[in-house]
Amino acid sequence: MAKAPARTFVCQSCGAVTAKWAGRCESCGEWNTIVEEAPREAAPKGITAGQGGRRLGFVGLKGEGRPPPRRLTGIGELDRVCGGGLVPGSALLVGGDPGIGKSTLLLQAAAALAGSAPVAYISGEEAVEQVRLRAARLGLDEAPVSLAAATSVRDIVASLDAPAGPDGPGVVVIDSIQTMYSDTLDSAPGTVGQVRTCAHELIRLAKRRGFTLFLVGHVTKEGTLAGPRVMEHMVDTVLYFEGERGHPYRILRAVKNRFGATDEIGVFEMTDAGLMEVDNPSALFLAERRGNVSGACVFAGIEGSRPMLVEIQALVAAASGGSPRRAVVGWDSGRLAMVLAVLEARCGLALAGHDVYLNVAGGLRIGEPAADLAVAAALVSAASDTALPADRVVFGEIGLSGELRPVSQTDARLKEAAKLGFSSALVPVTAERPRARRRAASPETARNEAGGPPLAR
Ligand code: TYD
Ligand code: MG
Repeated sequence: MAKAPARTFVCQSCGAVTAKWAGRCESCGEWNTIVEEAPREAAPKGITAGQGGRRLGFVGLKGEGRPPPRRLTGIGELDRVCGGGLVPGSALLVGGDPGIGKSTLLLQAAAALAGSAPVAYISGEEAVEQVRLRAARLGLDEAPVSLAAATSVRDIVASLDAPAGPDGPGVVVIDSIQTMYSDTLDSAPGTVGQVRTCAHELIRLAKRRGFTLFLVGHVTKEGTLAGPRVMEHMVDTVLYFEGERGHPYRILRAVKNRFGATDEIGVFEMTDAGLMEVDNPSALFLAERRGNVSGACVFAGIEGSRPMLVEIQALVAAASGGSPRRAVVGWDSGRLAMVLAVLEARCGLALAGHDVYLNVAGGLRIGEPAADLAVAAALVSAASDTALPADRVVFGEIGLSGELRPVSQTDARLKEAAKLGFSSALVPVTAERPRARRRAASPETARNEAGGPPLAR
């Protein structure tokens, strides 16, 4: 008699499989994310040579084909983040919080692409009329996009399975993958098993038929929808759409890209007429800056291939008893703790009895260690209630012994600062590049100050 298959429990956040249910996933630490799923069919055991397997035809590394032509969406910020346009037969995952603007971005991209290729937009979240209303609001209702509301992957595959060309699709948008279901599984849409199977079927079709596939995925901590993490290894490109609530700015960030550089970002502004590209993000991020306030420091950063200026704001307030608060928006809280520790141990600036708040203005999230010095400058400025010169930018990495480390692309950072009217910079001295040469890179504008003992005063 066949043995009943063992029960399997799958974490909806990270995809870890366990034999028994638990309140907290041991592998990612999330609570209430473990759900029972139908077991997968066991893999056949003991495959050996001579059991009917086909022999592979191996080839050399050098091919004759040229790289496939890329399809431009016409939205410059999106094209750049994708590595210079869309690659036919590739799959892109666009992740982000609900309400951040994923559907808006992809509807705009679909409409822009529809002029040059057949585009299908399949919504599992909104009814056809709702999408039409949005298109009308965005002024895109004349674009020849094929729109459908569907959630069955079987139906979708049946409808799209045509050779690329006038009949087959060139670009397909699935909004969102968490609403799709495959009838080969018992579990509910949005569970890890469903998300994985649906994504797998759609990606296979995209590769076979050579169309570009956009999959929208919600990022959410609640256990009801699977995190798009489980799909990240299946797709070619992972884009995250981020932004702070209440801010109009949205950042599209490539975190994985088989066809281009990661860390590239695209900047958009959400307006009444949809998402607008931001050509000069530094000017935008600095637009609300008020001069001559303590605790503010302009950081000259690099995001992907572009220099970007952004204001870092710090507030230091006497703690009202208990352990002091450390609140950070847009930067790593561990890194803030390190900078605070270095300021205390090496510069004698003790903030242990103070609440410290740090904010990167405009909703940008900075990952570069080059922001250390700007954060330290903002903290010192806030603690001493002394404003930094309004025309100064700051960047540099801080080491644990209080030393300043040079960072990459100094010239590009200084050039962007000069472009926006800044005339002085507080930066680490670069050992291998004499100061005279660096000055020559931006003669009138950057007055570079020596590292020396950092922030001694
Ligand atoms: P949406 O694209 O539906 O987000 P997602 O698909 O990521 O869930 O965007 C929803 C938000 O965007 C909503 O709060 C309204 C806002 N919005 C605008 O501000 N302007 C617009 O033109 C559109 C279409 C949406
Ligand atoms: Mg949506």
